[in-house]
Amino acid sequence: MEKSALQIARAAYQPKLPKALQGPVKAKEGKATQSVGNQEEIKALFPNTYGMPVVEFVPAESENKEAINVGIILSGGQAPGGHNVISGLYDGVKSLNKDSKLYGFLMGPGGLVDHKYVEFTDEFIDEYRNTGGFDIIGSGRTKLEKEAQFESGIEILRKLGIKALVIIGGDDSNTNACVLAEYYAAKKYGVQVIGCPKTIDGDLKNEQIETSFGFDTACKTYSELIGNIQRDCNSARKYWHFIKLMGRSASHIALECALQTQPNVCLISEEVEAKAMSLDDVVTYIATAVANRAADGNNFGTVLVPEGLIEFVPAIKVLIRQLNEVLTDPATGEPREFKNADEQIAYVLSHITPENKAVLESLPNDVKRQLCLDRDPHGNVQVSLIETEKLLSAMVAKKLAAWKQEGKYNGKFSAQHHFFGYEGRCAAPSNYDADYCYSLGYNASRLISNGKTGYMSVIRNTTAPAEQWIAGGVPITMMMNIERRNGADKPVIRKALVELDGAPFKYFAAHRDEWARQTRYVYPGPIQYFGPSEVCDQCTKTLALEQGK
Ligand code: FBP
Repeated sequence: MEKSALQIARAAYQPKLPKALQGPVKAKEGKATQSVGNQEEIKALFPNTYGMPVVEFVPAESENKEAINVGIILSGGQAPGGHNVISGLYDGVKSLNKDSKLYGFLMGPGGLVDHKYVEFTDEFIDEYRNTGGFDIIGSGRTKLEKEAQFESGIEILRKLGIKALVIIGGDDSNTNACVLAEYYAAKKYGVQVIGCPKTIDGDLKNEQIETSFGFDTACKTYSELIGNIQRDCNSARKYWHFIKLMGRSASHIALECALQTQPNVCLISEEVEAKAMSLDDVVTYIATAVANRAADGNNFGTVLVPEGLIEFVPAIKVLIRQLNEVLTDPATGEPREFKNADEQIAYVLSHITPENKAVLESLPNDVKRQLCLDRDPHGNVQVSLIETEKLLSAMVAKKLAAWKQEGKYNGKFSAQHHFFGYEGRCAAPSNYDADYCYSLGYNASRLISNGKTGYMSVIRNTTAPAEQWIAGGVPITMMMNIERRNGADKPVIRKALVELDGAPFKYFAAHRDEWARQTRYVYPGPIQYFGPSEVCDQCTKTLALEQGK
């Protein structure tokens, strides 16, 4: 296969490991833990994996060097660095014993159920070191949650002599990893399950997990593009660019990109919800920024729109909650089946409240259809299909036209639209993600050799140089609470939304009025892999602000 010069140079990059993982380790265990909410219910659901201590690895004289066979699964949306988790795990199990084996299940959790797998070799792994993407074994969104799937899984795990399974995924996949760990522990099947925190969305984080991998690279990639657009916009001075940014529900990506590029407007869904803003309030907010800049003679600007915005407008949120209930069969917990789209829409309209019906009817037809029809296998509305950036710019144009009539606005408004999501999900990992992911994978091998199950691989202190990073594991039950999903109460990992009293949002809020009126664009440029550390090894601004750096 032909390779670019950067690919060849990058393949030789040796990711940095925390000092604690550079030699033999032992597990230092903390106190028994509690789940973040609904302690009694979670304890009853996970009797074998609840309450385990947080673990930190510290240097030891020697360690268990037994050969182990391990399986790995990539689950959900791609995130830069997944290949390095796999290479880190591979090097980790081989460093314990060269007879250890690593198997990859193909195309997501479905590969485990359908017994589709590959065995990794040195040559195979070397092709993928420090590359973006999940193409090494592919990914998928099959939910691992049924007993029949767990039983089918154990057949192939036994056949291959696999002692432990590592599941790389977001909150849903790690919740399922925990359910699987509990099931195998209860059945005494002797298979450990370890999770790894992945998602560009950045919403799998808490006191123990500083960030999910891929967030760093994806945000840096989008910020490069936003910076380029801002240069263009400031050169031509004739367009307002509406840029939607991926992130299924939380606005971490939009906020991080705003901190990096200082756009004129950035919407934060969590704030829209907290202030109980209507869609019209949001439109008025943007139109005011446009009108103010027009008054200064600046008929151009940038607006960042988080992908999940629509779900956070309170009236629409209530509607979506009811749509999720109505479209789920309570007997099976599965999405209801319909003959066709018209039948589904008719069913929805006749089963929702008059208030929700009015909200639905107020939306443009294409948005209405998307809300009623499109679901992913986890039952989530597929917000990435809703063209919020176009919806908002059309509504802003309408408002400005009305203001013009009233003599409140006298500018020109012409919009361009962009959606950045897939552009960043498979980018070559930044040094941060390359090192972080390699460490997460390597660390998972030590959780396995120390007999842990139901744990998430965790690397902390990542705003410090990699040498000083802290490696260990956190029981997944510790991150759980009960939430309503698809019409039923379920144990799930609590999703981390943007905190309005957190340092990243506060910094943004303190500067946004100036960024809105003035032109204060920052142009981050492309990710750098080689060069001075202050250019190549920076973490996200979100993480730096959260850690008070
Ligand atoms: P994960 O939560 O699985 O990491 O996926 C995140 C994401 O990239 C979201 O930002 C986006 O809404 C969604 O996946 C799109 O998924 P798909 O490409 O499967 O439609």
